[in-house]
Amino acid sequence: MTTNATAIAHTNIALMKYWGKADSKLNLPTTSSLSLTLDEYYTKTTVEEGPEDKLYINELPQDSKRVHQFLNVLREEMGDFPPFTVISVNKVPLSAGLASSASSFAALTAAVAKFNNWDLSNEELSRLARRGSGSATRSFFPDFAIWEKGDSDKTSYAHHIDVPDLPIALVVCKIAGTVKKVSSSDGMVRAQTSPNYQAWVDESAKQLEEMKAALQEKDLEKVGQIAEANALAMHELNLTATDRRFTYFNQNTMKVLDAIKELRAQGYLAYATMDAGPNVKIITNQEQAPAIKEALAKRFRKIQFDIATPGPGISYE
Ligand code: DP6
Repeated sequence: MTTNATAIAHTNIALMKYWGKADSKLNLPTTSSLSLTLDEYYTKTTVEEGPEDKLYINELPQDSKRVHQFLNVLREEMGDFPPFTVISVNKVPLSAGLASSASSFAALTAAVAKFNNWDLSNEELSRLARRGSGSATRSFFPDFAIWEKGDSDKTSYAHHIDVPDLPIALVVCKIAGTVKKVSSSDGMVRAQTSPNYQAWVDESAKQLEEMKAALQEKDLEKVGQIAEANALAMHELNLTATDRRFTYFNQNTMKVLDAIKELRAQGYLAYATMDAGPNVKIITNQEQAPAIKEALAKRFRKIQFDIATPGPGISYE
């Protein structure tokens, strides 16, 4: 008899962002999004039978409400299963501003499916994981994935896209170690009150087609340009929200963004993307990543820089 099950999911960074919900109960997004799974950061999650749904991260007990609610969604969808102790080891540094909810909910969904012997494809697992956290839909697949927004619970899930031999790399800046002040879910609600919101959604649909073409053409310069435009426009929505406008930027964010422009002027391939925090991730290629990291580390002595490369899909132990 199975007594526990373990799955490993790597985190992903959106090159085309998910930033708004069409249905908050089902977690349907307003846009399709496109991501790169990262090798360096992952969550390993084991589920074992109860006494009650309870979450531990890196051995510390956590507020288990969100996990308990998600497990109840899975029970409703798939049929009952026992209460679970969920034991997660998180190798996603919170200070890197990478969404640990992506790898966490993907690993949890896969571990629960394995425990219960559900025979599901990665796309079906992705659909279920969406109810835990939107970005988790994309963490089942290696390298590049698209979360198709769909228009219903059945049609909104992610799938892999094949882009062989694209030497993409990210230089991840670890600017702030503090926990984010505005959660993604709350930030999206507020951003959706921007008068520019619908224009961002419309533009995103066009950019997604351009991005897919740029990936197939292996045009990393174009990939970077589109990703940066999409991300900076997303952050503009936060500033122009009519309900409690806000920003994730701090002074260092602006300084790093300026430095990226300068690196470009010097001929480097370097474009910025940012999520729900002050950290900047620089899209570049594997050849230039070490030089970019070194140039920035010299200039910003208090900021730490990591290099991240394409990573694997879901796996089991
Ligand atoms: C800025 O997946 O954390 O990282 O679905 O409410 O859990 P919920 O949101 P979440 O949002 C991620 C937002 C983002 C962009 C992205 O990953 O696409």
